[in-house]
Amino acid sequence: MAGKLITLEGIDGAGKTTILNKLKDRSFVSNELSKKLEKFNIIFTREPTNEWIGDVVNKAIRSDVDPLAELFLFMADHFEHISKKIRPAIENNKIVISDRYSDSRIAYQGATLQNKIKNPINWIQSLHKNNTIIPDLTILFDTNPELAVKRIEKNRDENSKFEKIDFLNNVRKNYISIAKSDPNRFKIIDADKPLEKIEIEVVEIISSFISEI
Ligand code: TMP
Repeated sequence: MAGKLITLEGIDGAGKTTILNKLKDRSFVSNELSKKLEKFNIIFTREPTNEWIGDVVNKAIRSDVDPLAELFLFMADHFEHISKKIRPAIENNKIVISDRYSDSRIAYQGATLQNKIKNPINWIQSLHKNNTIIPDLTILFDTNPELAVKRIEKNRDENSKFEKIDFLNNVRKNYISIAKSDPNRFKIIDADKPLEKIEIEVVEIISSFISEI
């Protein structure tokens, strides 16, 4: 496969969707990356997807569904995402940038299943092994959950069941441990910084990744 897959990960409120929207409309601090990006056919996507399984997943997030059932809904959405969007795009030499991907499952459902099953992280990783596509680059927006929850509360009236400080602390720990176990794929950025600074860093990381292709 000749295309590339870049994923953006992090706890809720880390600012990744805001940055991604800037990447989408190419409103960069400099237009250097914008020019580079023009050369490539870039597809922006996300998990949960905007397809019907993604809608079901979004309903689950807003309910008190059993955490194992919830994991399998996220997984169903992921495999449909791969076969309908990601694999065809990569086979057509495109660069795919996904707002969340498999590491969200490992970090979040690794936390929801923490006291329910043994070694959830390893188990969820093994469920992904067959038939997934491993990202070429993952940018982890690492942020303090207290700051993240404040950011969320500024923009919304009500927090989802995942948007709680204690829970997000566990998710953050999971992210850090996955990132440390795969340092070649992960670039960790300090997302406690102001958005303008994060933006510059993300642009640099993607820019240098693209220039090496
Ligand atoms: P979003 O806020 O990026 O739309 O993601 C929705 C929520 O779902 C967010 O709290 C993260 C969570 N999530 C999981 O728990 N597992 C997953 O596999 C994915 C993709 C998201």
